[in-house]
Amino acid sequence: MKTSRLAFLSQMAHDFGGVVRFTVPGRTIYLVSEPLAARHILATNAGNYSKGLGQREATSLLGTGLLTADGAAWPPQRRALETLFNPARMADLIRGAIPAVEQLSSTWAACASEGKTTELIRDVKEVALRIIDNFLLAGGLASRISVTISKLRQFEHLVTAEVLSPWPSAPYVPFSRSARLRNVVADLHRIIDEVIEHCGAVGGDNVVTSLRREWSPTPDDDALRSQVATLILAGYETTAAALAWVWVLLDRHPKTALKVRRELQVELGGRVPTLTDVGRLAYTRAVVLEALRLFPPVWVLPRTAIHADTVSGFPIPQGTEVLISPYLIHRRPDLWSDPEAFWPERFLADRLQPRTPCAFLPFGAGPRSCIGSQTAVIEVVFAVAALAQRFRLTPAGRARPRPQPHLSLFPGTTLTMRVHAV
Ligand code: HEM
Repeated sequence: MKTSRLAFLSQMAHDFGGVVRFTVPGRTIYLVSEPLAARHILATNAGNYSKGLGQREATSLLGTGLLTADGAAWPPQRRALETLFNPARMADLIRGAIPAVEQLSSTWAACASEGKTTELIRDVKEVALRIIDNFLLAGGLASRISVTISKLRQFEHLVTAEVLSPWPSAPYVPFSRSARLRNVVADLHRIIDEVIEHCGAVGGDNVVTSLRREWSPTPDDDALRSQVATLILAGYETTAAALAWVWVLLDRHPKTALKVRRELQVELGGRVPTLTDVGRLAYTRAVVLEALRLFPPVWVLPRTAIHADTVSGFPIPQGTEVLISPYLIHRRPDLWSDPEAFWPERFLADRLQPRTPCAFLPFGAGPRSCIGSQTAVIEVVFAVAALAQRFRLTPAGRARPRPQPHLSLFPGTTLTMRVHAV
């Protein structure tokens, strides 16, 4: 479990089935990799489950924002924030994505012409954060993109270490994990407070104006901070991971890359895609969905049972920690033909598979499913379409990118790539 989390979880599901109880020091956990059991927990009986492992640690930054809120606190937040993600806002998403992707495109053009390499994980994180910034935060983070990413990375490392450790670290010992976590959170809160001030001052459609309009005219500072932190963290990491995997997979599958470029040539002919174009790029979209199937950025969904329950015939005691694994469900041979293969065609309209509910859940399911799912797919298809018309990336070193299951599933902590003009 410590050295190879995905292999350990895969082996357990393979050996023992779709609901497996295991213990790690200090905890008993139920691993769920059966789609109908996932549906029961996430949708049918969602009211009996609160957010699970990692909740306490995440709350230090996210407070009781949309991702972490439970019970009665959650529905009004979801209703208020949904207005920011409605279909009419998707044109704003593209407007904000254009300069972000153009900036990356200039960097890659310089790399291609000078024969220099680029750092893919940094690039995708920056572009994803710029897009979220333009779409939701009125550009308030623009001058703080790198420092925000660096602080968020420290936050993620500390939170992951804290969740995996059987011994919580002592909060008041200097340099302990929790002391470092407190400092990083304080730094991030300072950045977020400046963003909130910026959003309030410039007006228009952004998180702060929406919350004041739809939720409460005078939300307190902590409540605003929680929502802004939540949208930054939930919105940029996952999308960046998806983008990184698309580039890695296109390099590994040159025939697929060629098909993508052909579609882009026919539909766009070198133009920057519009929102309507994005809707027409069926093959590019299939590539993005297939990347999300093989490497779902949210690779486990943690829940805690509020009352005792029965899942697929197994008793689940009150207070049980459950991990539902999209990664394992997406690779079940009884649901997906040739599940380990990268085959985007399975997502084309005439081939859609499979029909079992919750067989494909990169965005979760039920009431707590991703508020930004439509945004994410449009954003990733747009970025891939705009960039793949001009560039091809190949790894600069010999190391094969491998899944790194941290908060999101990335193909590495860093990934140096050569950029080739096409
Ligand atoms: C490829 C990109 C993305 C993936 C794979 C993804 C995945 C997910 C998943 C699996 C959940 C459910 C978590 C659970 O049930 O515990 C979720 C929730 C959430 N996501 Fe995303 N997400 C993506 C992009 C985004 C974007 C772009 C935003 C916003 C800008 C966003 C904001 C949120 C929020 C706020 C929640 C909590 C929703 C609630 O509890 O009501 N996500 N996401």
